[in-house]
Amino acid sequence: MSLKLAILASGNGSNAQAIFAAVSRGSLDAEVRLVLCNQPGAGVLDHAALAGIPAQCLDGAEYSSREAYDLALIEAIRASGADVVALAGYMRLLTPAFLEAFPGRILNIHPAVLPSFKGVRGAEQAVAYGVKISGCSVHFVSQGMDEGPLIIQAAVPVIQGESAQELQNRIHVLEHRIYPQALHWLAQDRLSLSGRSVSLVPADLPKAEQPPMTLIWPPLEQGF
Ligand code: GRF
Repeated sequence: MSLKLAILASGNGSNAQAIFAAVSRGSLDAEVRLVLCNQPGAGVLDHAALAGIPAQCLDGAEYSSREAYDLALIEAIRASGADVVALAGYMRLLTPAFLEAFPGRILNIHPAVLPSFKGVRGAEQAVAYGVKISGCSVHFVSQGMDEGPLIIQAAVPVIQGESAQELQNRIHVLEHRIYPQALHWLAQDRLSLSGRSVSLVPADLPKAEQPPMTLIWPPLEQGF
C-alpha cells in the first residue's frame, strides 16, 4: 500500500531529496504529501519547491510551548492526509503527544551506527573516539532520543586521517540509500516488530534468501 508521507526536516534536506527521487523513479511506493520545516530559509524548502511538493515552515518562536507547536504539526500532517512521518534531519525533540498521534509510524535517520553516538554530532564523535566503522541507522522513533527499534543500518570504514566532515559526507551517501529502502519496506507492510527487534516478513524464506537489513560498503579487497 502506498505510503502517505510527511517529511519533517530542519536543514539542507538531502535525505528528503533522496526520498523524492526514490518516489519519482518508482523504487519507493509512497506519495510525499507534505514537507514541514522549523527553520525559515532551510534548503529542504527549496528541494520541496523544485519537486512540486507542498511545504510549510512553522516557526517555533510563534508558539507558546513545545506542545502547542507539535499540535500544529499534527494538524498540518492530518490535513495533508499523511499517516507516516519521516524525520530527516529534524532538529527539535518531539513531544509525547506527537508520538502518540502516529504510533509505530514515525521513522528517523541517524548518522551513526546506533546505539553508538546518539545525539547531534555522530560523525564528529566517531572520529574523536577512533572507531574503525561508522555509518547510519534508520529506526522507529520512541520516547528516548535515537533509541527506537532499528530497521536498517549501513556501515562505512572510517578512513585514517579524514575529517569528521569527510566521514559525514560518505555516511550521507548511504543515508540516501537506506532511508528510502526502510520506507519502502514499511509501504509493503513487511516490517514486523517483536520487542525491540524488527524483522522482514515473510520470515520463513530460507536464510540464504533473506534480504539483508544492512548495507556494508565498500566490500573487502578481492581475495578476502
Ligand atoms: C543527516 O545526517 C541525518 O542522518 C541527520 O540529520 C542529517 C540531515 O541531513 N538526522 P540532510 O538535511 O538530509 O542533508
